[in-house]
Amino acid sequence: MINMDPFIIARVIHVIAIVLWIGGVAMVTLVLLPAIKRLIEPEQRVDFFEKIEGNFAWQSRITTVLAGGSGFYMLFQTGGWQRLSVDGSGWLHLMIFTWLLFTIMLFILEPLVLHRLIKSKAKRDPEGTFSMISRLHYVLLTVSLITVGWAVAASHGFIL
Ligand code: HEM
Repeated sequence: MINMDPFIIARVIHVIAIVLWIGGVAMVTLVLLPAIKRLIEPEQRVDFFEKIEGNFAWQSRITTVLAGGSGFYMLFQTGGWQRLSVDGSGWLHLMIFTWLLFTIMLFILEPLVLHRLIKSKAKRDPEGTFSMISRLHYVLLTVSLITVGWAVAASHGFIL
């Protein structure tokens, strides 16, 4: 018999959204940025990166909304905000923190502030700006992977 439990469907959407989103962050951090550093002249790196990353930013925005929507749905099916005050719920806080971090970056900082700031900084110091972009991606990827690992372990019974 087919079990169409909405909670399971939300979980499937949650995980697929996260695979696409964090997988994309890993690809940008570990493959795209090092390739640009190897192949492109310092003065053109930031511009080249921004042109390619523009497409991925849309994928990230859509998957962030899907991950947040399915995540909050599951949270409110299983105790809502009260669940966040239960002992051992640090992984739930971490998921929400990571999600907020990306949401603020993708929907507020990047379009309103970062894009302009990076462009003008790249004119003055192209190499330094490109290194800063790479470092920022390493930090985001590390936080995301810790979140994924902890969430999988904790939601299947691992208690820290
Ligand atoms: C608004 C943000 C988020 C909320 C409210 C949320 C909420 C949830 C909830 C309620 C569950 C199911 C827990 C249970 O078994 O009862 C879950 C599972 C999970 N979440 Fe999130 N989440 C959010 C964002 C994220 C982010 C940003 C990541 C990763 C970077 C993430 C990764 C996971 C993973 C890997 C699972 C476990 C899937 C499994 O093993 O079955 N979540 N989330």
